[in-house]
Amino acid sequence: MRTAMACPVRDPRTWSGSPADVNQNTGNLLKISIFGLGYVGAVSLACLARDGHEVIGVDVDQAKLDLIGEGKTPVVEEGMVELMQKVVASGRVQVTTDAQRAVHDSALSLICVGTPSAPNGSQDQSAMLRLAHDLGRGMRDKDRPHVFVFRSTLVPGTVEDVLQPIIERESGKRAGEDFSVCFQPEFLREGTSIRDYDKPPFTIVGANDDAAFTALQELFGHLPCAFHRTSVRSAEMVKYCCNNFHALKITFANETARLCAALGVDPFEVMDLVCQDRQLNISPAYLKPGFAFGGSCLPKDLRATMHLAKLHDVELPVLNSIIPSNRQHADLAIAKVMAVGSRRVGMIGLSFKTGTDDLRESPLVLLAEHLIGKGYNLRIYDPEVHLSRLLGANRRFIDTHVPHMGELMRPDLAEVVAASDVLVLGLASPSLLVSLADLVREDQTVIDLVGVPKTTKRRGHWEGLCW
Ligand SMILES: NC(=O)c1ccc[n+]([C@@H]2O[C@H](COP(=O)([O-])OP(=O)(O)OC[C@H]3O[C@@H](n4cnc5c(N)ncnc54)[C@H](O)[C@@H]3O)[C@@H](O)[C@H]2O)c1
Repeated sequence: MRTAMACPVRDPRTWSGSPADVNQNTGNLLKISIFGLGYVGAVSLACLARDGHEVIGVDVDQAKLDLIGEGKTPVVEEGMVELMQKVVASGRVQVTTDAQRAVHDSALSLICVGTPSAPNGSQDQSAMLRLAHDLGRGMRDKDRPHVFVFRSTLVPGTVEDVLQPIIERESGKRAGEDFSVCFQPEFLREGTSIRDYDKPPFTIVGANDDAAFTALQELFGHLPCAFHRTSVRSAEMVKYCCNNFHALKITFANETARLCAALGVDPFEVMDLVCQDRQLNISPAYLKPGFAFGGSCLPKDLRATMHLAKLHDVELPVLNSIIPSNRQHADLAIAKVMAVGSRRVGMIGLSFKTGTDDLRESPLVLLAEHLIGKGYNLRIYDPEVHLSRLLGANRRFIDTHVPHMGELMRPDLAEVVAASDVLVLGLASPSLLVSLADLVREDQTVIDLVGVPKTTKRRGHWEGLCW
């Protein structure tokens, strides 16, 4: 193993190593080791050293260490040439291949090694697994606490189920007692990474113990963004969710452009206008997990879009997969109800969403149809749907599609609850939830399709659709 590069550095051994001691000695400054000096690690190293922290950069690639040792940047990024020169000259940067020593000589480690795709699409964690053994060995003889912050993108469960046990085994020490482990997803983008480092969309820390969370608050709490604490697994998942969402947005814009081009419409003008709607489009609207969509607009307009694309020989695989995906969501609800094993089912809600009587293409109607077809004993309560009052297209929809549904509707919630073993909750009104808290019996199962808040008073056995 090669040793530290001869950069102008302070000797890390003169630092106490414990976050509390270091802060006491130097204000808010920490001694930080950074593992993996690619885009994430090198930019973090430069920015943390710029902010006054002492950093030890660790990589298996000697060429990268040599570059940093000479005050050069190992990655092409705006602002990195000048910044790296400055921070290395400041004497606050040290580089080494000796991971164990770096753990021993620092108070906190940021782990930023690559986690590329394996040929089968799985995450190749080989570099991370090798490193975890070294991190653990580095803790073996360390008699001060240490915080390990995993910043590489990792599939949910990796930190708690794989990396933490390796460090515990190799060190003979316990997470939460002798050292802390946490996950902090990195949101910087190549090309604007220094700017993104200084102004992230938010800081998210998945931590099981306070020491890790407090140390990261010290380190990143000054950044101009919200600071969230969550479970380790949620933090791991948020990173995937964000990247998948970005990929989805890009593909949505590109599929829209392909259809626009075929229709002679300017895609830039269209997407620009789409983005100007901050109420429904670029907003939290439609981004809460719940039941399948339906109603008189989304399904028919998607179908018309797909037909248009077919007429013009335009392939739109993402848009084309929305209706099948939505159907799978409805099928999951059907499977959940059937899995309970009781045939006395009460449906609360029939229209396609809370607050409307519109039954057209309601996924709850689909669910009811399925249960009726299977011979279930079904009762339905929906305070918005009064068959006698329905008019126009809605009335026609019932007469042609679900004429038998009227016989199953009951005006009284209490009657539906009393006559059922399983309740399917498809409405989310607060007053309804209050009534249910009184009416539901402990022996009943409630299948929650709407994502009722965990804090809601409830009785019986509740099962969420996918939560
Ligand atoms: N690049 C980005 O914009 C970006 C943004 C957010 C998150 N991420 C995630 O951050 C992680 C790092 O990404 P990157 O683009 O910086 O990777 P990268 O490939 O540029 O750099 C990874 C570095 O890790 C080093 N390395 C491998 N094994 C090591 C070991 N045992 N010890 C020390 N160093 C080791 C490699 O030599 C390399 O220098 C990945 O999980 C990635 O998904 C990347």
